[in-house]
Amino acid sequence: MTLVACAQNRPPASASVRMSRADVVGIRQAGMRVAEGDFMMIRLAAEKGADIRRFERPARSLAQWAAALPGMFPAGTGPGTANTRARVEIWSNRADFEQKAADFRAAVTRMADAAAANNMAEGARQWDAAWRSCNACHDSYRAQPANAPAAATSAPHRR
Ligand code: HEC
Repeated sequence: MTLVACAQNRPPASASVRMSRADVVGIRQAGMRVAEGDFMMIRLAAEKGADIRRFERPARSLAQWAAALPGMFPAGTGPGTANTRARVEIWSNRADFEQKAADFRAAVTRMADAAAANNMAEGARQWDAAWRSCNACHDSYRAQPANAPAAATSAPHRR
């Protein structure tokens, strides 16, 4: 009666997932870094002549991240939470923030489609569009790191 035992061990349906606000910040920062790694890898490998069809999968993963992204910024995880650089405007201007995530998602989805079609020119165009979408969101919604010169803001990979 394994099934019954398992069912009995399940938490009650009303149980909610508990995660600290600092955990949420740490996870979304890690997600951004992993996304950045894949995004840069795609560019560098394509420039070195790799078969771009192999990038469909990481590009679809980036689209999945883009879809999850707004949910990684729940209310209560703004400035003052751990070391976050999220700006208050994420919550006061939510529709635009979500639109920027959607723009990012659309660009990496088109990049995945171009990779699947082995279309290098289109893939490069969509990589550039995705890069602009990273910067557009950071320019509005990510604060500068402490002690950074103002000019360093627009490059997503700068800390
Ligand atoms: C819809 C908005 C949005 C998009 C699109 C977006 N980012 Fe971010 N990103 C943020 C915000 C907000 C933060 C700050 C998160 C925090 O500190 O809690 C951030 C943080 C980062 C960080 C720093 C993580 C750390 O360790 O502190 C990196 C790197 C990064 N993003 C890379 C990227 C790249 C590369 C792309 C595009 C491929 C991208 N981001 C797209 C909003 C976005």
